[in-house]
Amino acid sequence: MRPPQPSPVQTPRIVVLASGRGSNFQALIEGVADGRIHASIVRLITDNPGAYAIDRARKEGIPVSVLDYQVFQDRTAYESALFREIQDAGADLIILAGYMRLLGEPIVAAFSDRMINIHPALLPCFPGLHAQRQALEYGVKLAGCTVHFVTHEMDSGPIIAQRCVPVGEDDNEETLSERILREEHECLVEAVALFCDGRLEVTGRRVRVR
Ligand code: GRF
Repeated sequence: MRPPQPSPVQTPRIVVLASGRGSNFQALIEGVADGRIHASIVRLITDNPGAYAIDRARKEGIPVSVLDYQVFQDRTAYESALFREIQDAGADLIILAGYMRLLGEPIVAAFSDRMINIHPALLPCFPGLHAQRQALEYGVKLAGCTVHFVTHEMDSGPIIAQRCVPVGEDDNEETLSERILREEHECLVEAVALFCDGRLEVTGRRVRVR
């Protein structure tokens, strides 16, 4: 059994990694502001200088680090810079909120059971890109989202929370993605709140809520 969280006496410091629109990041901002999440978001890090998530952070006065992947010599150089930013921010918890790159082993190992991802499918079904399209093409009747701890394998770590979304006859990728996204926001805030309150215990693949 591994209690992954920082001590409940300190306010956990959250670093969010996002590559785009940042609606899940916004849900976290609101979750902290309205007291559901007992933590502070200390930094947004993005690999995309055009990410709308940057505007959301600036509006809230959250420091932003833009690490434009294109300007780094190779993946190792990018990852080292990213790791430095995360350490400088004093992160207790990293949240991947629509972060579109795989993370290397040093960061994943350093944040074992302290890094959370949101995925728009009911894992282990439909990992990877275009999960909602995969679900529609497969013909499932129930789609959804998953919040899980990050391990070195993509979209495969211990599951903290999931939400189901029924697939309608007339759904297309856009309508289904929109409905899943609403659940993502709730599910992510709920899971992060549990983490920050020290209520999650990881035993192998299983995450128990205390
Ligand atoms: C979400 O569907 C998330 O599950 C996936 O990428 C999308 C990001 O959306 N990983 P947003 O940037 O949070 O609005």
